[in-house]
Amino acid sequence: MPQLARRMGRAKPSAIMLVAEKAKQLKAQGRDIISFSIGVPNFLPGPHVYEAARKVLEHDSGQYGSNRGADALLDAFLRHIEAIGLTGYTRANCSTGVGAKHIIYNLCEALLDEGDGFAFATPYWTSYLDIGEILNADIQLLPCPPEQNYKLTPAQLDAALARKPKVFLFNNPSNPTGMVYTRDEIAALADVIARHPDTWVITDDIYNRLVFDGVGYHNFVHFRPELRDRVIFVDSLSKTYGMPGWRVGFMAGPEEVAKAVTTLNSNHITNIPEVTTAAAIAALTGPQDIPEQKRAEFQAKRDLVLDVLAQIPGVVCPRPQGAFYVFPDISVAFGRTHGPTGLAIANDVDLCNALLEAKGVACVPGSAFGEPRAMRISYTCPTPQLQPGMERIREFFSELA
Ligand SMILES: Cc1ncc(COP(=O)(O)O)c(C=O)c1O
Repeated sequence: MPQLARRMGRAKPSAIMLVAEKAKQLKAQGRDIISFSIGVPNFLPGPHVYEAARKVLEHDSGQYGSNRGADALLDAFLRHIEAIGLTGYTRANCSTGVGAKHIIYNLCEALLDEGDGFAFATPYWTSYLDIGEILNADIQLLPCPPEQNYKLTPAQLDAALARKPKVFLFNNPSNPTGMVYTRDEIAALADVIARHPDTWVITDDIYNRLVFDGVGYHNFVHFRPELRDRVIFVDSLSKTYGMPGWRVGFMAGPEEVAKAVTTLNSNHITNIPEVTTAAAIAALTGPQDIPEQKRAEFQAKRDLVLDVLAQIPGVVCPRPQGAFYVFPDISVAFGRTHGPTGLAIANDVDLCNALLEAKGVACVPGSAFGEPRAMRISYTCPTPQLQPGMERIREFFSELA
């Protein structure tokens, strides 16, 4: 029998989906399961989005579309990023993809040859590692433990960039930690990047509208406009507009890079479908009240989650200020046993399994994100489930022997 390509031996199914699958199975068996596992926003876009999708079907062009993205979609995206201070970009600086994941994959394919250095912080979003491995990049992990609030320091970045990785991938606000870099922190990192001209910088900032406590969203190019010739900004409709299944992602960066991503599009997806394009334009240009309301709701949910975690002795949690994740250090449980079930907990995977088994609460082990001392709580479930779910976690820890 012929063999799969060698790169498939390095491709792994998503660890997050494995937890979600297990939770689904238990639910199907009639168990009362509360899922804090998948990073879905759990709300739907406004009626204007559906109306735009329906309307465009009435005059379907029946044609292929632009590999880069329809002009009207690119224009809507350009206006959208102007609102966060990313001004002066044109259509030629932009391209679209089937979600930010596709954009990031395309960018890595466009920028990394086999063996090229690919640097990013841990904890990381799982796909960074998987994409790097599929492409056989030289992955350079930059550890950011809870003791440094899961954030990269300028000194650490300076040392990392001195190795001249081809690409440095930065994620702010972060999945899985929810941490957001302050204005001063971004400015300091931008100064470091400016000193290392050999590295492309991808900023995966798809949670840029989900920032709390008035911290605001900041990008390296705000402080160092000269970095525009090698910083690539990535955005998505998924989280801000409650549209993960619609699959629309964007990039803005140097023309050469936008062109490369567009060329890759021309060889696999061809174009974002017309109906999706219409819905995306409506989301970007229509009323922004739902995203804003959700941001406020997520902030309140974040507070609730942190309040309960603070009641659990030994669990330490840097305070997240964005996205919809909390990433507590739960290593206090390691080496202990869950009394009522007798389940032994040696590590984060045991802990998440025991929590699911004993209390019906699904969380993702931190090792999926490169930090085995933690677990990820995604808190977008309906509020009536959030409080009892967090209570079950608190109870679980109180039953450890
Ligand atoms: C940090 C980060 N980047 C990218 C993505 C992918 O988003 P999209 O749905 O646009 O592909 C996700 C999705 O969870 C994410 O958390």
